[in-house]
Amino acid sequence: MIVVLLGPPGAGKGTQGERIADKLGVPKIATGDVLRAALRDGTEQGLAAKAYMDRGDLVPDSVILGIMKEVMAAPSSQKGAILDGVVRTVPQADGLATMLAELGRKVDAYLLFDVKDDELVRRLSGRTVCDSCQTPYMGLEPGTKCSKCGGTLVRRKDDEPDSIRNRLKVYREQTEPVIDWVKDKKMELVEIDATGDLDEITERAMKALTE
Ligand code: AP5
Repeated sequence: MIVVLLGPPGAGKGTQGERIADKLGVPKIATGDVLRAALRDGTEQGLAAKAYMDRGDLVPDSVILGIMKEVMAAPSSQKGAILDGVVRTVPQADGLATMLAELGRKVDAYLLFDVKDDELVRRLSGRTVCDSCQTPYMGLEPGTKCSKCGGTLVRRKDDEPDSIRNRLKVYREQTEPVIDWVKDKKMELVEIDATGDLDEITERAMKALTE
């Protein structure tokens, strides 16, 4: 099963994506994580993406589609994948659909996480992430050890107030049109309330995907 997670920054795509992927027994692929790893490794792709990411702007579609081509052809994603943070523009949605069709595959569902703006800002301003496995945390200070892998928690550069504001604007302008694109194509789009208890949100998502 291939599922695309849609929703604004801070909606919990990373948090829930991990849980849904575990339940379905498929990998979670997050373009943000791939780009941050490339940056840590000092690759050309990572360095080119850095300025866009720090400002909260989108990395060019061609870079993202290049990443997706590689990961969707990999043996690990043959059973399916949870795609977190991709697609974010209509050209990416089109590009992914074409690429999957060439592989004889398709997106089975788009899951849209709904959270109000003030809650998004609260979450992003209080977030730290593991610098190694990327797990996000709430209410833990930078420097704390990650309970999952022992890495160190850091604040993301794009969780500064100016970048958060820009990311929300970019989402409205460039990613929200994907919702109408999905509707126009008559594809499966499920909206879920992504506020409240983590287990309940996972349950809502799983119900939506398996019904
Ligand atoms: P990316 O890493 O994808 O960031 P994002 O979409 O802005 O999403 P976030 O990771 O900020 O939020 P999330 O929805 O995953 O929420 P999380 O689970 O962490 O992208 C970063 C950058 O990379 C982009 O700005 C762009 O530059 C580039 N990029 C990536 N993909 C791209 C693409 N396809 N095209 C172009 N550019 C691309 O949760 C947030 C916080 O809330 C956490 O602290 C978490 O613990 C907490 N939380 C989660 N759920 C709850 C809950 N129910 N209640 C309370 N707290 C909660």
